[in-house]
Amino acid sequence: MKSIFIANSKGGCGSTSLSYLMSAYYNLDCITNTPPMMDFLSLTVFSSSASRIPKNLLKSENAIYDLRGSDVQLQSLLNDLASVVSHFIIPTATDAVSICHTVNLVNHAHALGLPVSIVINNYRTEKNLNAAHISLRDLLPHTPIFSLRYTTLFGRLTYDGRAWLEKVHHSKGEGRLLNTLDQIHEMFDQILGHTGGCKNAK
Ligand SMILES: Nc1ncnc2c1ncn2[C@@H]1O[C@H](COP(=O)(O)OP(=O)(O)O)[C@@H](O)[C@H]1O
Ligand SMILES: [Mg+2]
Repeated sequence: MKSIFIANSKGGCGSTSLSYLMSAYYNLDCITNTPPMMDFLSLTVFSSSASRIPKNLLKSENAIYDLRGSDVQLQSLLNDLASVVSHFIIPTATDAVSICHTVNLVNHAHALGLPVSIVINNYRTEKNLNAAHISLRDLLPHTPIFSLRYTTLFGRLTYDGRAWLEKVHHSKGEGRLLNTLDQIHEMFDQILGHTGGCKNAK
């Protein structure tokens, strides 16, 4: 599995949450400059003020980079990572500021020749989703756009972590969250163009 970069210079759009789920699903190491409050299985942290990726952390396989920073910082980190990551995923909220940050980053990724996908994340109404979708499609007509509605799954993960995620089952009345998790996994496979069977062995 090739390495993946997830980020948006607008914080709070869901980079860390999606990295968490993606690293769990594909069994990827997570490399981050902002340690989350969750129990990642395999987490490597480097300085949040760094504008270069430490050379020993440039991994072309089985890594997910969850990086936080300003537009300029992320563009610099992306320059370093362009040769090792195969895909850049940008989660965005539906507001105009998040969309503006998203468009800047997509354009930078395109200039580097990196495939990029957008996830309109954490939206609560179809109206907001549609408005964000139309703006993004107009500004970035060739970029794949996915969406993920607000879900209580993310709160559960924050409090109960990976141990809960791995044990969750229908008998505890959490089937609805499992369905959501299945949908998120399906979205990841679609983003990466996987048709199943591409996960790393756990
Ligand atoms: N789809 C979603 N549904 C519900 N809450 C979400 C969703 N995506 C993100 N969140 C919440 O939003 C907050 C910010 O998410 P986070 O992943 O930390 O963003 P970032 O890493 O981009 O700053 C967290 O509290 C997270 O649980
Ligand atoms: Mg984060």
